[in-house]
Parts: sequence; structure tokens; C-alpha cells
Amino acid sequence: MDILQIKNLKVSFKTMFGKVNAVDNISFSLKKGEVLGIVGESGSGKSVTSLSVMNLIEGPHGKIESGEIIYEDRDILKLKDKEMCKIRGSKISMIFQEPMTSLNPVFTVYKQINEVYKIHSEDPKKDNKKEIIKILEQLNIASPEEVINKYPFQLSGGMRQRIMIAMAIVNNPKIIIADEPTTALDVTTQGEILSLLKDINKRSETSIMFITHDLGIIAELAQRVVVMYRGKILEECTVLEFFDNPMHPYSKGLINSMPDNFNGRFNTISGNVPSLYENIEGCPYASRCSQVMDICREKEPCTKELKDDHKVCCWLFNDGKGEGL
Ligand SMILES: Nc1ncnc2c1ncn2[C@@H]1O[C@H](COP(=O)(O)OP(=O)(O)OP(=O)(O)O)[C@@H](O)[C@H]1O
Ligand SMILES: [Mg+2]
Repeated sequence: MDILQIKNLKVSFKTMFGKVNAVDNISFSLKKGEVLGIVGESGSGKSVTSLSVMNLIEGPHGKIESGEIIYEDRDILKLKDKEMCKIRGSKISMIFQEPMTSLNPVFTVYKQINEVYKIHSEDPKKDNKKEIIKILEQLNIASPEEVINKYPFQLSGGMRQRIMIAMAIVNNPKIIIADEPTTALDVTTQGEILSLLKDINKRSETSIMFITHDLGIIAELAQRVVVMYRGKILEECTVLEFFDNPMHPYSKGLINSMPDNFNGRFNTISGNVPSLYENIEGCPYASRCSQVMDICREKEPCTKELKDDHKVCCWLFNDGKGEGL
């Protein structure tokens, strides 16, 4: 069952050099209880997608041009600020890459977590120390009684990320969006944070949208994957299918570039993602694709569901009919 449906989402930014479509007509869904990985190179629109789900695209430059984001039968893009605030942090919460910029430096850990916790409690003045200590204990934080009185700068990067996770889970959300939450951490701490998220997903059936560059994390954590490229989705399938039977040449390229597939030299996908300011006819990946055909440079392919739970947007698997890119 889908818990969140993103339909034909298009997000633009006005910049000094013109208007760009950072997310260009994408559709996908998040199923109840799953971890969905979103992968793609830098600038592919992963963060813009996650900010859109939180309805946090900032105007006047940023704009959700069209589309719907359906949660509990309602389009959250149409909600009033007050209604969206109720959903944010309680039903859908977000963990960002750099906790230092998301935590408030002048508040203690207790105050920050309590700010989120009390939004939905009956008595906003109540002392919630006991409950918050319990949550920190669940996150394997040693001496939580001391930690709650500390300020962010007194904590290590891994500990700050745990505090962010605590803030994200205090209200038992249905959905957590984690935008590269471990990129700034060392490998051991990264492993700990990932297993915490895995536990949360298992224990409370929280659906997680996990954004990362790291296909190793996808293999370990996610059940399904969405591959983004230059604001579009090129492939969407189960993780097993993704690694066993990737269809899009871009997905194959990403998998080949994994350090585990090191064969004496580093495999990379040659070329760069074309700038969003460049107007491209046809498939956005055509300029780098090893299997490019004439039609790829002329016309956009459509998204095709080739089997259950496996969609791909590529002329190799396309008859020109179906949903557009
Ligand atoms: N506030 C903004 N103003 C102008 N352009 C923006 C803004 N935010 C994002 N963009 C543009 O939208 C595109 C997608 O950005 P986004 O941050 O979603 O990429 P990403 O996939 O998250 O990349 P990364 O892996 O580097 O985090 C980029 O080309 C970026 O320059
Ligand atoms: Mg990003």
C-alpha cells in the first residue's frame, strides 16, 4: 500500500541565468513500511524532491509549478501553512545531511527536542525530560541525563546526528525523509546511524525515503530504489532487480562505478550531467550513454512498466507510447 504518492511533480527556480526545472515532472510512490532509496549524481534533484514533500520550497525564487503529493488522501501541496505544520515533524519528518546547520546552537539538546515534542502534546508547559531521556536511550546514547543539558557544539558529529534522529522520531512519524544523513560521518558512526534507522523502520513500520550517492547503503538498507538524473526519474524498481537486472544504461553505469566493482581501474561514467540551463531535446542521458541511438537525441522516451515494480524510461525499452518523462 502506498503511504505517499508523488504525481507529476515539477519544481523550478528562478536564477540570475534564467529559470531551471530542478525537478521535471516526476512520479513515484513510497510504500507503507518500506525504505525507498533515491540515488543520482549531484544536482539531479534529490533534495529538491524531498523539500517538496515537506512543502519547504522557498519562494519567491523556488516554485512548485505543478503536481500533487498525496498523503492520507490529501494533496499536501494544497494545505494551509497551519495544517502543513501539523504534518511536518509529526507525520512526516526530515533528517538533513549537516546537523550543525539544522540544530539551533543556542538551545540545549532537551530544549530542541522538546520544541518538536510539545507541538503535539496536550500540555505544552509539561516537563518532558523523562520521555526525552527514554528516546535518547532507544538511540543508544550513553548518559542521556547529561546529554540533554548539552549544546550542539559540545557534541560529536555522530551524536548531533543522533539528536536530529531523536527530533525526527519523537512524534512517531509515519514517514522519515533522510537526505544523505551519514555523508559527513566516519564509516563506523555511519554504520551505527544506518542500523538505528533500520531498527526504527522495523520497530514502528516507519516508511523511510533515504537519499544517497552511495549504492552500498542502498544495497544494505533499501527495498526499492528510484534513480534520478537531471530532474527526471530514469528507473524505479526493487533493490534486487536494480543490482541483478538494471535496465537503464545510467543505472548500469552507476553500478559499474561502485568501488566493489573495482577491476584495476576506476570505472566512471564519462562526461558530465548537462547543465540545467542547456535546452536538451530527447533523453537527458543521451550525451553520456554508451548505447545511444538516433532517436534518443530527438525525442524524449516514455516511462514503461516492464514488469511488476520495475519501471524504466529509455528508448531501448520503448515504443514511444505511455507516460512522458
Ligand atoms: N535554491 C535554489 N536556487 C537555485 N537553484 C537551485 C536551488 N536549489 C536547488 N537548485 C538547483 O536544482 C538542482 C537540483 O538540486 P538538488 O539540491 O535537488 O540536487 P541533489 O540531487 O540533492 O544534489 P546533491 O547530491 O549534490 O545534494 C541543482 O541544479 C541546483 O542547482
Ligand atoms: Mg542534495
